[in-house]
Parts: sequence; structure tokens; C-alpha cells
Amino acid sequence: MQTEICEITKKSLEQAKTIIENGGVVAFPTETVYGLGADARRDDAVSLIFNVKGRPSDNPLIAHIHKDYDLSELVYDDKPYAKILRDRFLPGPLTMVYRSKGKVSSLVSCGLDTLAIRVPSHKGAQEFLKYVDMPIAAPSANISKHVSPVTAEHVLNDFNGKIPLILQGGACDGGIESTVLDVTGDIPVILRAGLVSQEMIIDAVGKCDLYIPKQNEKVRSPGMKYKHYSPNCRTCIFDYTEIEQAKKLYNLEIDNNPYIMCEDIVAENFKGYNLLNLGKTPLDMAKNLYYKLREGEKVAGIIIAIEPKEKDGVMQGVLNRFNKACHG
Ligand code: TXA
Ligand code: MG
Repeated sequence: MQTEICEITKKSLEQAKTIIENGGVVAFPTETVYGLGADARRDDAVSLIFNVKGRPSDNPLIAHIHKDYDLSELVYDDKPYAKILRDRFLPGPLTMVYRSKGKVSSLVSCGLDTLAIRVPSHKGAQEFLKYVDMPIAAPSANISKHVSPVTAEHVLNDFNGKIPLILQGGACDGGIESTVLDVTGDIPVILRAGLVSQEMIIDAVGKCDLYIPKQNEKVRSPGMKYKHYSPNCRTCIFDYTEIEQAKKLYNLEIDNNPYIMCEDIVAENFKGYNLLNLGKTPLDMAKNLYYKLREGEKVAGIIIAIEPKEKDGVMQGVLNRFNKACHG
């Protein structure tokens, strides 16, 4: 199969629609990462996503809809705080988990009685979703466990010859996946941290818990139990106080093309070293993390990552991805 990257035009949207209507998959941009989409209502289309990606069959998918899609067709929406959150944050990088009406394929939620819904703000994503006018099931458009894609070229790198079409939407501004928020209970609960932070949700509705699975508990968001976001090279993490240890390891690995990945202020300690610079602010670090991991894996024998100092707000999401990617 030939894989095409196409700018988003009437012609490519028509092409995308034809593929989707035939039960196929199309990669599309969002403001967080690229998605690999198919008709959420069709078993065959949804199972194709799992097959192409190599995704474990018990890790549920998010259904993506355009901003004018009638949510009540798909889910029960009975918590008043959920509306406040939608008004404040959507379209945008907040996925909300509702009780499902069972209108999409049961493979989307892997048999759970809930459904995760996302309304992306990316202009190209909205155009695509509006054009097909149906719920699109989509995980991030990477081979399972690999680093999520933040450019069309990253998608091509993972799926060349395996999918027909990638809609070109440029580099993703957000850079890490959406916040996943359970809105089925009395208090909203963050299942996966992201660009809409716990503080932002508390500011909007006064309360928000962060779910931390207890040992041996059946996890509420099955994606949490899998290895994720890993580059195809060795990785290692140090705390920002462990500069000397990181330097020592770098020198031991000098024949293996080591790279230091860290934020700007820490990079000042590594003049003359191979660097993957994450930038200055939490939003910079979110935007750059996957991009730098994908750049790094092309050249580095080992990525020596230094954990950023700041831990709160958006950094909760960044650190979650940072640690999963580099914990090897
Ligand atoms: O930003 C994003 O969310 C991107 C773009 C493409 O929209 N999508 C994405 O999808 O990150 P994926 O499949 O890589 O991650 C979906 C996450 C997983 O952790 C999964 O376990 C969780 O959402 N999830 C999906 N449905 C759920 C449900 N019904 N209950 C709890 N967690 C759910
Ligand atoms: Mg993913």
C-alpha cells in the first residue's frame, strides 16, 4: 500500500471520507498529537485500528467528534459540572469519559460501559470530523509503545505502507495527549494528566481528583498499565540535582553517541555536550518532548534525561510522559 501525506483540501477530505466509509483508517492532526481514525460505529473499522497499531485489545479508544455534533446521541450527560467544563475547555485538549449509550462499536471502549469523547480544537481536525460527520475512534497515530507523533512525518515513519492517507496539519502545538477526565461521578477525576491541568479544572468547578491506581487494583483507565512513548534507543533518567552523575554516565557512554535531554536552565551545565533541549516553560516542554525523543532516537545510542524541576500544573502531564518514555 502507498501512504500519501496530503494537505487538507476538499479533494483530500473527500479521499479521507471514502476511505473511512469503506472501513479504513486515516491519520489526522489534532492540537495534541496525530490520531489514527476510523468509523467508531463499525467493528471491522475499529478492529483495524488495533491491528495496524499493534495495540493491546483491552486498552479503549477515544471517540472524536466535531464541535456541533450532538453529544447526547452517544452518552448520558447528567453531571452539571461536566457542562461547565465543556463550556470552558472545549474544543480543546480535554477528553471526557461519560456513561455510554452503546451507540458505537463495543470494541471502542473494550466492553466498558463508559465512552471517552474528545472535541479537538485543531482546525484540520474539525474540518475532517465535520466532513465525515460521524464519531471517529482514534488513538495516537504511532505503533503501540512508540513515542506519539507530533508531525505528519512521524506518522509516516511508523506507518509507511500500512495506511493509505495522512492529512497534513503541521507540527502539533500541544505536544502531549489530552487530559482524560472521568465525569461519571460526583467529582471529576483525572485518569491521564495533560494540558488541561488539575488546577484549571478546580478553578472551573471547584473540585477535581487525580486518580492514582493502588497496587493490584483493576485500573480505571486501562492505558495506564502499559509501557508507553518509548524511543528506539536506551534511556535513563536523573533528577535535576544529579548533574554530576549524568555527566559521569555520559562520559562512560561517550562511544555510543550519548545525548542529554533537559530543560534550558539545566542545559547551561552541559556546554559542549550533545543536547536535546526541551525549552523553558511547561508549555515548551510539552510541545518539545515527543519531538526531541523522535529526533534523539535517530542519532543517540542513549538518551540521558534530566527530570525538570517544576512538578505542578501542566508539568504533571509532561512528567508523566517523560517518566514513561525514559524509565528504561
Ligand atoms: O490527545 C489525545 O487524546 C490523542 C489524540 C489523537 O486525540 N489520543 C490519544 O489516544 O492519546 P490514546 O488511544 O493514545 O489514549 C487514550 C487514553 C488511554 O489511556 C485509554 O486507556 C483512555 O484514554 N481511555 C479511553 N477510553 C476510556 C474509558 N472509557 N475509560 C477510561 N479510560 C479510557
Ligand atoms: Mg497513545
